[in-house]
Formats: sequence, structure tokens, C-alpha cells
Amino acid sequence: MSDLPKVSFSKLSVPTKGVAVLLAGEAAALGPIGQALDEASGGTLSRAAKAAGFSGKAKTFLDVMVPAHLSLDRILVAGVGDAGQLGDLDWQSLGGAIADKLTNGTETATVVAELPDGETLSGEAAALIGVGAKLSAYRFDRYKSKKSTDEKPKNPPRRIAIATEANAAARKAFNRLDAVSDGTLLARDLVNEPANVLDPAEFAKRAKALSSLGVEVTVLGEKEMRKLKMESLLAVGQGSEHESQLVVMRWNGLGKTSKKKPVVFVGKGVVFDTGGISIKPAAGMEDMKGDMGGAACVVGLMHALAARKAKVNAIGVIGVVENMPDGKAQRPGDIVTSMSGQTIEVINTDAEGRLVLADALTYVQKKFKPGFIIDLATLTGAIIVALGHEYAGMFANDDELAAQLSAAGEATGEKVWRMPLGKEYDKMIESRFADIKNTGGRWAGSITAAQFLKRFVDDKTPWAHLDIAGTGMASPQTDINKSWASGYGVSLLDRLVADNYEG
Ligand code: BES
Ligand code: MN
Ligand code: ZN
Repeated sequence: MSDLPKVSFSKLSVPTKGVAVLLAGEAAALGPIGQALDEASGGTLSRAAKAAGFSGKAKTFLDVMVPAHLSLDRILVAGVGDAGQLGDLDWQSLGGAIADKLTNGTETATVVAELPDGETLSGEAAALIGVGAKLSAYRFDRYKSKKSTDEKPKNPPRRIAIATEANAAARKAFNRLDAVSDGTLLARDLVNEPANVLDPAEFAKRAKALSSLGVEVTVLGEKEMRKLKMESLLAVGQGSEHESQLVVMRWNGLGKTSKKKPVVFVGKGVVFDTGGISIKPAAGMEDMKGDMGGAACVVGLMHALAARKAKVNAIGVIGVVENMPDGKAQRPGDIVTSMSGQTIEVINTDAEGRLVLADALTYVQKKFKPGFIIDLATLTGAIIVALGHEYAGMFANDDELAAQLSAAGEATGEKVWRMPLGKEYDKMIESRFADIKNTGGRWAGSITAAQFLKRFVDDKTPWAHLDIAGTGMASPQTDINKSWASGYGVSLLDRLVADNYEG
């Protein structure tokens, strides 16, 4: 991970060195500190605004270098327009956009969190600026031996000091949000990491590191899984040189004796998906290093919950395997018996994610009494056809859980769009030789995949499946994400827990 700016909060005061960031409202109006700086510089700021046609509109900037008569190196004025119209996500994006402008090795940037009418930003808004700045500064540049000169940030500021009257509230809000953004960044790191480095054992090792935060982590290898009869999961990894792993992570924020049912998250962790014997075409196959985005999200989420000491008992389970073609690999036509006892005919070895999840889902139901189960998987190309890279596909057997997820999606910007399940689709996955087959043909590919998973979930357990093939990798570049891997889902699920399942 690149060096990220250190965010701190202090009382409002007039900045005297380095870079000052001011917020301007409509008609480029500045707050009291901004006005004082304008005066002290002999009207440099207002003249520059006029010369540049800067109106203070949201998402526009005015950049003034070495302003006259001041000891500051630079004043960056960020337009916020009518600040009353800005929501949480706008403040976060603003932080991201600001950090993206400060890439020339600035030591310290001071954001003056005041509005034109002299009002101070809420602590939450100030904290969101800090979080946005950090998320936006993230780059996965571990393997760049020469730091490129044209790729931003060349040099993000080492410190972002946010000056606000609400500094105590801001610090508190930031600590909570920062735990979550660290989870998001951990998920990004895992997804960006190539499969020659992040093999199943290495993935398990990185999950184990969560124990330093108080997460209990246990790792099952192939021998243990064979004992549990997880033939469906094991079949996927049998063509790989690397041993498959099942990682179980427990965060007991309510204590182990709590009578509350735990919330359970399950992730698909295919560290590389060649397709197996049903091999994928070469073009773009490198993206399949990200086929563990669901598992990465679960690890990032467990990090977030533990780091902010969430009052919840949460369990994360990830099935980590590599899907390779080999003399030992499974074949189309093979029939495997899943841990649930249901037999599966493997029509296409590239529909491997559902084979991994089937056993992981059975495992969590046999082992725990889940309050709900949410699984995440980069499961189908078809969900990208349907929803592109903006929304994840959501399938649920429970309207309340679906509504909570939708609300958390709107609040965090990690959006979900509900897709249908229905017994009408079952005939598409009926097998001639086994209880079920692992593909449903050309149409409704994401739905038949979800309908397959549903066969491994007890109807009485609230369950949602998130197909994140479009949102977890090859992600849209936004103010807060300049990375191939977005870390999608950590913030969404943290919010779901915080708003509905804590205490
Ligand atoms: N990992 C892929 C899905 C995927 C595709 C994720 C593109 C991200 C980007 C999954 O294992 C897969 O190969 N699915 C097949 C299923 C088909 C064989 C029924 C697909 O979507 O083509
Ligand atoms: Mn596949
Ligand atoms: Zn896959």
C-alpha cells in the first residue's frame, strides 16, 4: 500500500504554512478565515477567483500558488456550492477530490472546515473529508520498482490537518470511519494482489493477522474439509498445486455467552479462476486474480468490526481455492456429493464459485445458528451484463434483510439492486444424473447461479447473496477510488450491521 496521509483534527485557526484548503460557497463566498487571508494577501483570492471565472460551484477548484504577502505556499479553494445540499457521500468525495489535487509532495495540508456564513462543518462532515482523502490516496504500487512520474499521487500530503470547531466530534467520528476505511483498503490490497503471491495459504495467513485485533481465526485444510465431506469445494481446488483452505473468523463483540444469534458472512475466495478444464479465453484472464473479491470483503469487514469494537457477534467464513486445469482437475460430467448430501453434476468447471459457496453455506448452518447469512461472490459475468459496475446484484429470501441492505447501499454508495429468485428457474438447473447441475444455460445466468445457492440454504434463515463480479474489481474510478479493486462491500456491510444489528 502506498503511504497514506495522516489525518488529524485541530481547532479552527488561520493557517500560516504549507498548503491551505478553503471551502467556498456560491458566488465564491469564503468564511471568516478565508476572508482574512484574502485581505492579508491584498485581495489575491478574490482577484484570482474573478480571473479564473471561479464561482464556488461544487466540484470546481481554484488553485492559487504563493499568494502575495502570505507565508503560505499555496491556497486551494474548493467549491462546495450550496453546502446545505451536500450529504455524507458528497463530503467524502470532496475529501477525495482535495487529496487528488495535493500530489506534489506537500508536507502538510490544512483544510479550514468553515462555510461562507461562518458556520463550521459538522464533526461527521469533517471526518468524512479525512476518510475520503485517505481512500483516494490509496494506490497499489507495491510492485512498481520505479515510482512513475506521471501517475498520481506522486506524493500525497504526509499530513492532512482538518481545522474545525467541532474537532472533538470530528475525531470521534473519524476513528469509527477510519476503522471501516482500513477494512476497505485491506480488501483492495487482497484483490489487487496477484495469485502468484496470494495463494490460498498466503490468503489464510493474511486473514490470521486479524487475531491482533481480537478476531479468533481458525483455518481448515484439505484433510479437515475431507472429514467434513466438503467434496464440492474440494473438487474445485483439486487441479491446483495449492492446498484449499477454509478460514473461519469470529468477532465476539457481545461476548461469547450472548444469546443473540451471530450474523454470518460467507465469501468466495477463488485466488485465480482459469475456468479449469472448461478453460477461459486468454483475453482478460488476468482479471481473474480478483475472483476472491467476496472473501476479501469478508476479511475487510471483520477487520472493520473488530477495529471499531462493534457490539455484535459476527462470523466470517471464506472458501479459498485455486481453479486450475491439470491432470488431477475435475472434469465436466463429474458428479460430486456436497456436504449437504445433495449431489451436483459439474457441467462447466468454470462455474466453480457456486461449488465453493455451496459447502461453505452448509458449513456455517451446521456449525452456527446464524441470525442471517450474507454471501458475497464475484460469481457471474452475467451480472455485469445486467448491472454494469455500479450496482451489485442482490438476491434474498427475506424482504427485511433486502430492504436493510438497500438502505445501507444508498447510505454508503456501495449500492445493491435486487434481482429475482423463483422456483420457475429450478428447471434450468435440474440434472439428468444428479440432484442439481452447476450451470443453467445461457439466459438469466446470475439468477440460476443464485437459485443454485438457494438450494444450500435453509428457508427459515434470512439469507442474501451479493453478486459483486461487476463492483469488486475493474472498478469505476471515482473521487474516492483510484484503484482497480474498490474494496466494495466492507462499508456496505459495516453500515448494515451498525444500523440494524448492534447492541
Ligand atoms: N469468476 C467468474 C465470474 C466473473 C466473470 C467474475 C467476470 C468477474 C468478471 C465465474 O467463476 C465464472 O466463470 N462464471 C461463469 C459461469 C458460467 C460458466 C455458467 C460466467 O459468468 O461466464
Ligand atoms: Mn469461473
Ligand atoms: Zn470464478
